[in-house]
Amino acid sequence: ASFDLRFELNGEPVRVACPPDRRLLTLLREDFGLTGAKPGCEVGRCGACMVWLDGEPVNACLVMAWQLDGRQVRTIESVAADERSAPVREALACHGAVQCGYCNAGMVMTLTWLHGRTPRPDAQEAAALMCGNLCRCTGYGGVARAVEALF
Ligand code: FES
Repeated sequence: ASFDLRFELNGEPVRVACPPDRRLLTLLREDFGLTGAKPGCEVGRCGACMVWLDGEPVNACLVMAWQLDGRQVRTIESVAADERSAPVREALACHGAVQCGYCNAGMVMTLTWLHGRTPRPDAQEAAALMCGNLCRCTGYGGVARAVEALF
């Protein structure tokens, strides 16, 4: 059995028939072909699957699709095309925070949200709030430098 799901995806209304056990991460990747949110741990620890739900960062692996009805989802595909993420993308690239790249989409989602927040966190707070975005290459030096430059 499936149910009729309607929500807003990257600014567009969408409608999809969805099985009750489908998670947001699977829905994005398999039903909508949006592969920017990555499966990593799939238990809410690594942040590779980060998206915004009603403007707040969430781990897409922990959200069930049925929870989306009437809500707004934004993914890296939309946020990366938004000029507001440009300082974050530049800081990550310029400070050597991009190695294999698997974690970077999630990091851009978290950092762009923090950077646009009012009041904006200071560098120490921002670094602490990045604890939900793990880098499997352990390239945290570059991430720390990018955060320092941004906040
Ligand atoms: Fe969702 Fe790791 S895959 S937090």
